[in-house]
Amino acid sequence: MGVRWNHFKLLLLWLTVLAVLALEVEARKRVKIGLHKNPEPIEENIMNELKTLSIKHKLKAGDSKATTKQDTKDAGSKVATLSNMYNTEYYTTLEFGNPPQAMKVLIDTGSANLWVLSSKCPDSVAPCANRIKYNSSASTTYKAINAPFNIEYGSNSEDGPIALSGFQSQDTVNFAGYSIKNQVFAEITDAPATAFLKSGFDGIMGLGFSSIAIGGITPPFDNLVAQGLVKRAVFSIYLNRNGTDAIHGGELILGGTDSGLYSGCLTYVPVSVAGYWQFTMTSASVSGFQFCANCEAILDVGTSLIVVPKPVLRIINQILGVRNPTASNGVFLVDCSTISELPDIVFTIARRQFPLKSSDYVLRYGGTCVSGFTEMDGNSLLILGEIFLGTYYTAYDPVHKLIALAPAVH
Ligand SMILES: *[C@@H]1O[C@H](CO)[C@@H](O)[C@H](O)[C@H]1NC(C)=O
Ligand SMILES: *[C@@H]1O[C@H](CO)[C@@H](O)[C@H](O)[C@H]1NC(C)=O
Repeated sequence: MGVRWNHFKLLLLWLTVLAVLALEVEARKRVKIGLHKNPEPIEENIMNELKTLSIKHKLKAGDSKATTKQDTKDAGSKVATLSNMYNTEYYTTLEFGNPPQAMKVLIDTGSANLWVLSSKCPDSVAPCANRIKYNSSASTTYKAINAPFNIEYGSNSEDGPIALSGFQSQDTVNFAGYSIKNQVFAEITDAPATAFLKSGFDGIMGLGFSSIAIGGITPPFDNLVAQGLVKRAVFSIYLNRNGTDAIHGGELILGGTDSGLYSGCLTYVPVSVAGYWQFTMTSASVSGFQFCANCEAILDVGTSLIVVPKPVLRIINQILGVRNPTASNGVFLVDCSTISELPDIVFTIARRQFPLKSSDYVLRYGGTCVSGFTEMDGNSLLILGEIFLGTYYTAYDPVHKLIALAPAVH
């Protein structure tokens, strides 16, 4: 682990899910419509849908700051609206430079660097072809830094971690209406051919502690605080779980919390190791099988599923009756017809219970149901990804090193 292997995520998961989905739907199509000529590949359909969704997103971008929750939000806080791709990717829009260049960045509490694709990345690098890219020559506020930049993200790709490289630049970054001056970020000029190919974002914004920032670069949220733009050094996250409603994907609230987005009281838990948003979880169990007793866990927007150690996954998979327990891509399928009978998973944090129902932890894509649990080589942490964070609203306080949670209102 450590800083280089600084991230465990399932960025590629939904690609894998699409591949699985394609096979399943194709198989059913064949059964159902027999000799239908040239059935349209499902993946193409979904890509078209994705395009439509992102166009819709662009059309809606202008009203992204409109909010009906003004009354319950902490005074002085602002909202970055999130987009949701299939419940496995959540991103927001940042504006770089002057005049502003809008770029979509995945939000990620499991890393602490900001990067975007660079106009200096040639189309021969597949992930840069036909994408929105930051062009420093077109910005009057750009300052060259040019120091090299390299980062690796964990993934469920069989090729191992995703390694990206490029160089550092500095510019003004507009984040939810706050103008951050002199933000250093990376322009990516090289990436593996298959990385993020079908993703809806042009970069990643880390919201982890600066201690895990590659190159010691100050993360955007730290700059927001240092430049006195937010009153309180707190941000909070609300994720919607309607995977077909890309535009209303959720909210990243900068400078506080919004009591209209959760029910009951927030439960506070201290950060145990400041790097990831890591804490000591009291326990976790399913059907009498306790798989955590004072174990180390992290909250990770940026990871799609819940990642457990390998031996734990084997037992959870048995309990859930997964259909493909030997899957090599970390995507485990459950029979959709059994969902209502599957047990709750109960996490206990600071003496309070945070249960997940099967409808919370199974992702459904038409007739394909994907278990919300997976494992990652070399990982011993309990990684609570978007499966958990869709059910629970979370707040993050880097100064007091506190995390807070409460049931999200949907
Ligand atoms: C970047 O912007 C400059 C100045 O507007 C323009 O001349 C150039 O063509 C742009 N480069 C790319 C790759 O879009
Ligand atoms: C999800 O969003 C779609 C598109 O906006 C909407 O038609 C549908 O009713 C929503 N589903 C739920 C369960 O809210």
